[in-house]
Amino acid sequence: MRGPFARAVAGALGVIVAAAGQVVGASPVAADSVVVGGGPARITDAPWVVALSSRDRFGGTRAGQFCGGVVVAPTKVLTAAHCLGREVLGGEPWQVRDLAVIAGRAELRGEGGQEVRISDAWVNPDYDPTTNSGDLAVLTLANALPGSYVIGVARPGDAAQAPGTPADVYGWGDTSGNGSYASTLRTARVEVLPDAACERAYPQGGGVAYRGDTMLCAGDPRGGKDACQGDSGGPLVAGGRLVGLVSWGSGCGQPENPGVYTRVSAVLPERF
Ligand code: ARG
Repeated sequence: MRGPFARAVAGALGVIVAAAGQVVGASPVAADSVVVGGGPARITDAPWVVALSSRDRFGGTRAGQFCGGVVVAPTKVLTAAHCLGREVLGGEPWQVRDLAVIAGRAELRGEGGQEVRISDAWVNPDYDPTTNSGDLAVLTLANALPGSYVIGVARPGDAAQAPGTPADVYGWGDTSGNGSYASTLRTARVEVLPDAACERAYPQGGGVAYRGDTMLCAGDPRGGKDACQGDSGGPLVAGGRLVGLVSWGSGCGQPENPGVYTRVSAVLPERF
């Protein structure tokens, strides 16, 4: 069953708009918050962060940004599978004619960097939209980005995913939990949390459940710093490697409800 809770936690920007629901729970979050609780990021420090864009579908005021993505090879970008869902795009990815990534640009209204069309999209066949498990897709770009944009990906057993590791999340999403979307890239420092922290927050049998084999738990144990709506598909970086993709959570920045990320090392097939 998909009640309001499931909708609120599962959705990308488009889903939330379509559902016209309240996206945040009862606890207030800091008003200056990212990505909630963070600060501005320089694209030169994080050249692997890209915005997914369709002005046709999402309008031009924020360059059509609706999700994040990560450059893992000159022509390959990882994002969340749910960002390419029918509820978000209104159809199949190939039907969104102007679907593109914006790379090398922190300011969505600016001119810097480049916009590159997507020529192919591989959605993880094991992605389950009702449980959010396996929330990963690989986009192929029509033109190659500079090799210097590429970030390495954590592979199984990578110590960077161990609980307690500091991690940075990046995005252009909601900075307050109230629908105030950033026009400039932001980042927040969180930490990889033990699976138990998310199992407690999102137990089996209570809406969407956390599972540590395909998901990674991260947040600020004191709350206030987190990803939020519109950040989905964007990177969680620890130890200089990509360990997670923003996937879901209940509210944003609540200490008792950490962020849930796609566990990239477990979900990304080795051939990529
Ligand atoms: N599902 C959201 C999106 O599509 C991401 C939510 C992340 N939430 C969190 N509290 N970390 O943008």
